[in-house]
Amino acid sequence: MSLNTVKHIYKTTKSQRETQHGHKTYLIWFTGLSGSGKSTLANLVEIALHKKGISTYILDGDNVRQGINKDLTFSPKDRTENIRRIAEISNLMLEAGVVTLAAFVSPYIKDREEVKHIVGADNFIEIYVNTSIEECERRDVKGLYEKARNGEIKNMTGVSSPYEAPINPDLEVVTDGQSVEENVDQILKLLSQKINLNNE
Ligand code: ADX
Repeated sequence: MSLNTVKHIYKTTKSQRETQHGHKTYLIWFTGLSGSGKSTLANLVEIALHKKGISTYILDGDNVRQGINKDLTFSPKDRTENIRRIAEISNLMLEAGVVTLAAFVSPYIKDREEVKHIVGADNFIEIYVNTSIEECERRDVKGLYEKARNGEIKNMTGVSSPYEAPINPDLEVVTDGQSVEENVDQILKLLSQKINLNNE
């Protein structure tokens, strides 16, 4: 689509906003199967960051799909559009000076690459929540896998729709056999190399 728009340059810069917040901003992207633990980890990491005075916000698939993305299905095309919109929203959050945690299945490598491109590689941290399909199905917190196996849900990631695991994520956390506290510590250790987490 061709738009007759001209970019307006804001007078206050991202860097000024970061200075006011007292830290740099990052997009912390959690990818993995439904039920892998993305939202749980994103929430616990947000609590820890919040306690340390970091400005944060969470974008979560289940929530975003009830609001701004409620027009989208789980077809490959709509998932790509879902992730593209989230990338643009995340970019605005980063511009605003807020560390953003995003928990989306985001099953396609090309879509996650596009997120990285939109927000800038230096601002993007990819965390692969590696929980096997067997374990996700065993948990089946939302009952979706059972429905998918019964044919009530189409395009279910891991069952009837593919999941392309990250090849070189910034961090891979294994939830099966490790405690959630261990997973959170791993993530905070990675973040502490990028954001000053010393103030309590
Ligand atoms: S994504 O593939 O487009 O990134 P997103 O993270 O927004 O997915 O939404 C995934 C959530 O929607 C899952 O956690 C699950 O609760 C729900 N869901 C409903 N149908 C499906 C489906 N067919 N595949 C995956 N998740 C689904």
